[in-house]
Amino acid sequence: MASSLLSVFCIVLMVWYCESYNILVVSPLAGKSHAILGDGIVRHLTNAGHKVTYITSYPDNLTHKNLTIVFASDNVEVTESQMTNIQFLMDQDFSLQDPSLLFYHFIENGRKAVSVPAVQDLFKDKSQKFDAIIAEWMFSELYAGIPAIFDCPMIWFSTVDPHWMVLKLIDEVPNSAYVADGLSTDIPPYSFRQRVHELYNQLYGQYLQYWVTYPIEQQYYEQYIAPHIRDKSKPVPSLEALRYNASLILGNSHSSMGGALKLPQNYVAIGGYHIDMNVKPLSESLKKIMDNAKHGVIYFSMGSTLRSENFPKELKEGIIKVLGELKQTVIWKFGEDLPNRPKNVHIVQWAPQPSILAHPNCVLFITHGGLLSTTEAIHFGVPIVGIPVFADQFANIERAVNKGFAKKVTLSYNMATELKTQIESIFSDPKYAAKAKELSLIYHDRPVSPGDELVHWVEHVVKTSGAPHLRSPALMVPWYQKCYLDLLGLILVVLLSVLCLLLKLYRKILKKSDHNIGSKKTN
Ligand SMILES: *[C@@H]1O[C@H](CO)[C@@H](O)[C@H](O)[C@H]1NC(C)=O
Repeated sequence: MASSLLSVFCIVLMVWYCESYNILVVSPLAGKSHAILGDGIVRHLTNAGHKVTYITSYPDNLTHKNLTIVFASDNVEVTESQMTNIQFLMDQDFSLQDPSLLFYHFIENGRKAVSVPAVQDLFKDKSQKFDAIIAEWMFSELYAGIPAIFDCPMIWFSTVDPHWMVLKLIDEVPNSAYVADGLSTDIPPYSFRQRVHELYNQLYGQYLQYWVTYPIEQQYYEQYIAPHIRDKSKPVPSLEALRYNASLILGNSHSSMGGALKLPQNYVAIGGYHIDMNVKPLSESLKKIMDNAKHGVIYFSMGSTLRSENFPKELKEGIIKVLGELKQTVIWKFGEDLPNRPKNVHIVQWAPQPSILAHPNCVLFITHGGLLSTTEAIHFGVPIVGIPVFADQFANIERAVNKGFAKKVTLSYNMATELKTQIESIFSDPKYAAKAKELSLIYHDRPVSPGDELVHWVEHVVKTSGAPHLRSPALMVPWYQKCYLDLLGLILVVLLSVLCLLLKLYRKILKKSDHNIGSKKTN
């Protein structure tokens, strides 16, 4: 009796303490890795007892009694297109790194997400209330307009290591002399050339934003978002004001993986939150392969979007030959059957990546270097050989090499020999594996898990009505004041005035003495 009373009391206490909030998560990018990150946020929030409405392109990934899915059906996946075909990318010399291309691509994605009828209906619904909105930042800031419809705080979610484009939204553009552009592979301290290159990246990026993307976004804002604000009889703020009105940035980053930037107080690093703390057991067959691998297991995967099948035929044959010569067992995520497969190479269509990396016999991860994969490598302490293909993969691998737990292979038709050399160099020197373990320790050594941190800060923003106490004063100071150009102006004016005065005085004295001399002569 007493114990059941106690448990009732505990439940009442818990309900009383854990207030349930209504949160809108906007993460409709059609890419599997983006969906994994969006799903992770939703999973943590619903598990913490909050109600979540989720705008996504993958309506079937999650189910939960507290979850409402809004299907952004227009955001078709680029997976099947040539943009993510390895051979196409190799032949085209096209790396998805051109910022203007990325801006256009992602602004179009944002437009599609807010314009689909399901999302428009959500915006229209006058009974709909949210306590906070979390939206993914991916080269588009159109979603900054949504909180104005629902009158609630805004939280950006940034998928990569912090860079100037997101930091300027809550603080200021950091110094390009030691902070890399989001897509740059440069790692500080920079050479002179790199420093100039980073300055160029920032200036060109800002030019693109102010002159190309912001006007387009403003137009989409007026077309798809502003009418709903007006509909609720509220004044329509400018998108420019809303852009800089976020309460927080949740960043998929951590110092074990990236750099130790100085960050504003409302940037919260939650890198690794998407990884389930309970690693699922391996299938019987995979477990047997891994348990019996006397010399360890190499896990080879080009990620969920790129596919090993799309390596050109001659390269595929070269890679198989290299892998066949190794004494280690290889598990290769590969979508088609491989005839004449060497005995030590096993093919899997789908791989339970965390479970494989978690196995003590896993000694190397050959990866395309997507951020989720490099994060998981550090989470489980496995060294990597990276073959970056596009976008942020080059920067991720460059960072991993710089940290000392990775080797890089350049994607090319004859990269098989380089792959062999780099695999051998990882195994010939124990420092790579040791570094991976050391970084894993740093990664795990946090006061709370990244998932708990995520939930805490979202709740904090709601409880404190937008966390105004965390906002950086730098947001309110125009750039010319930060450089003290006004003071410089004042000093110049004073100096010039004094100079003028002195000049006038000098002339007067000169005149007077002329006059005196003249008058003396006439005397
Ligand atoms: C900016 O955010 C705060 C707190 O979330 C909110 O109260 C305010 O209305 C927002 N400003 C605008 C212009 O929407």
